[in-house]
Amino acid sequence: MMFVLALVALFVGCQALAMQHLLLAEVETRVRKPNFLFIFTDDQDLQMNSPAYMPQTQSRIKDEGIEFANHFVTTSLCCPSRVSLWTGRQAHNTNVTDVSPPYGGYPKFVSQGFNDNFLPVWLQSAGYNTFYTGKLFNAHSVFTYNAPFVNGFNGSDFLLDPFTYSYWNSTYQRNHEAPRSYQGQYTTDVMKEKALGLLDDALASDSPFFVTVAPIAPHSNIDLDGVGDGASPQMTEPLPAPRHADLFPDVKVPRTPNFNPLVKSGASWVQTLELQNQTVIDYQDHVYRQRLRALQAVDEMVDALITRLEDSDQFDNTYIIYSADNGYHLGQHRLPPGKTTGYEEDIRVPFYIRGPGIPKGQKVDRVTTHIDIAPTLFELAQIPLRKDFDGTPMPVPSDQETKSILHEHVTVEFWGHTLFEGKYSNIGFEGTSKIPNNTYKSARILSKEYNLYYSVWCGNDHEFYDLSTDPYQMDNLYAKRDSVMMLGRSLQYVIDRVDALLLVLKSCQGNTCIEPWKVLHPDGSVASLKEALDPQFDVFYTIQTKVEFTACEAGYIIASEGPQVGLEYRDGLSWDAWT
Ligand SMILES: *[C@@H]1O[C@H](CO)[C@@H](O)[C@H](O)[C@H]1NC(C)=O
Ligand SMILES: *[C@@H]1O[C@H](CO)[C@@H](O)[C@H](O)[C@H]1NC(C)=O
Ligand SMILES: *[C@@H]1O[C@H](CO)[C@@H](O)[C@H](O)[C@H]1NC(C)=O
Ligand SMILES: *[C@@H]1O[C@H](CO)[C@@H](O)[C@H](O)[C@H]1NC(C)=O
Ligand SMILES: *[C@@H]1O[C@H](CO)[C@@H](O)[C@H](O)[C@H]1NC(C)=O
Repeated sequence: MMFVLALVALFVGCQALAMQHLLLAEVETRVRKPNFLFIFTDDQDLQMNSPAYMPQTQSRIKDEGIEFANHFVTTSLCCPSRVSLWTGRQAHNTNVTDVSPPYGGYPKFVSQGFNDNFLPVWLQSAGYNTFYTGKLFNAHSVFTYNAPFVNGFNGSDFLLDPFTYSYWNSTYQRNHEAPRSYQGQYTTDVMKEKALGLLDDALASDSPFFVTVAPIAPHSNIDLDGVGDGASPQMTEPLPAPRHADLFPDVKVPRTPNFNPLVKSGASWVQTLELQNQTVIDYQDHVYRQRLRALQAVDEMVDALITRLEDSDQFDNTYIIYSADNGYHLGQHRLPPGKTTGYEEDIRVPFYIRGPGIPKGQKVDRVTTHIDIAPTLFELAQIPLRKDFDGTPMPVPSDQETKSILHEHVTVEFWGHTLFEGKYSNIGFEGTSKIPNNTYKSARILSKEYNLYYSVWCGNDHEFYDLSTDPYQMDNLYAKRDSVMMLGRSLQYVIDRVDALLLVLKSCQGNTCIEPWKVLHPDGSVASLKEALDPQFDVFYTIQTKVEFTACEAGYIIASEGPQVGLEYRDGLSWDAWT
């Protein structure tokens, strides 16, 4: 009897224990934070339609989720753009503004303290396991990779300079191991195996994960042949995997009105470019095809990664995101291959997201930028937003309450030179492929009522385009500002407002980057360009301090960037009272 009773007690006890386990498991699955898989390409355009040539990315990410159709970068160059993305801050707040020291690159990222203070570190603190393969930053090299090692990743396998862009002779560096050469292997295929391995590691743990896969396609190839003997590295067209080498034989760069136009366009230095001859045009079409071909191995990798996730028990709890570090131009405004300008081709990039709670096949037209990505991940992971974020969560429709502040502006900034890539690129300053003084601040403003781009250059060049009537930015209205009307007013009134907005944006921090009009109108009565256009503010905007530079610098030298703060609007003041 005693024995039976004991058995019964044991049985009941076990059941209770089993119940408890079940409950715990249920609670755990319910509160487990979502995972992230972030696929991040290099120099991939949106405007020349490259994503349309990636059927897996289209059908398995874009069509299954949301396309952010007006997504912009804040600096159109790899390293500054990436540091802004990983910190959620404008480049003027990271001061990582270039690809190499003294103004940029991995060493500058480290010396600015970001190796201890960027997204993967924050996600680890929130309980995430984090993984990365591919290119992180420029000047993250065989010389700098361990000085110090990159923080924030539980597993990493980085591409290292100077071999990052050698499609057939890459060097990768895993965790704290020594760099390893993959001479003779195709880099994206090498990366695919690494990415699948890291994803397996991520899936093996019970913690939520963040996995980034950052292939170099469709960036130019860099040929290091003979560099040891004093030759300089050559940027060539990207190289596809042999199985993709013959695809798209008839495809050409879209012949938009700004492609090698008969009339000059753009800022002063762009206006010095000559009309391109057929040899150059043919070459650019070749570069375009090579870019699309190089993206095919990325598309295959996307397919493989999603399939692996589908076969796991975490597929329904994983956000899959696709984007690129900056856009690219090829012949628009007569420009040789490259990035770094503020034109649409360089600042627009694809952004797709699918995952738990995200509706299928939707398109969001609201303006979003790369500095919004870290806040977006924070919100999806239900981590409180950081005060130093210059961005705000993207409006991802989901069940949870959103802290997203809708905005109509993008701040685009650049310091230093532009670089032309590929053959026929030595047409820059003194026969080099460089043009110095490509330093500018600009505001891209986009809503249902207007679609504008305004820039101020370090040489005090100005551009103003109305993209609702001039989507290819061929007609700079700045010089015509007294004769052109816009939104029912003389254009000068619009420019005064946009310049004042740029004055705030060029040195904004945190919330002033997100709600810049509040700086100009502290009473909160104005929240958009449309509201600022009210004639009652004409005096204020006319006398407002203007954006200007006193010199062209290769980096963020604040003393050369003119006035930093302007006036605040005060009610009821007349001309006399202001002056
Ligand atoms: C990932 O790294 C973080 C930070 O070092 C650590 O706390 C965590 O335990 C690691 N995860 C695993 C599965 O080792
Ligand atoms: C390939 O990379 C290795 C270093 O990883 C280098 O020593 C070698 O010279 C490179 N080969 C070519 C053809 O560039
Ligand atoms: C076309 O222009 C390029 C670059 O300026 C030049 O190198 C080439 O010789 C030109 N070709 C012809 C056929 O004029
Ligand atoms: C670049 O700007 C500097 C300083 O503002 C000026 O001295 C120099 O002449 C400019 N160079 C070119 C090539 O325009
Ligand atoms: C940005 O970094 C450069 C290079 O170190 C430095 O000269 C400059 O003063 C810094 N700018 C600001 C605003 O801190």
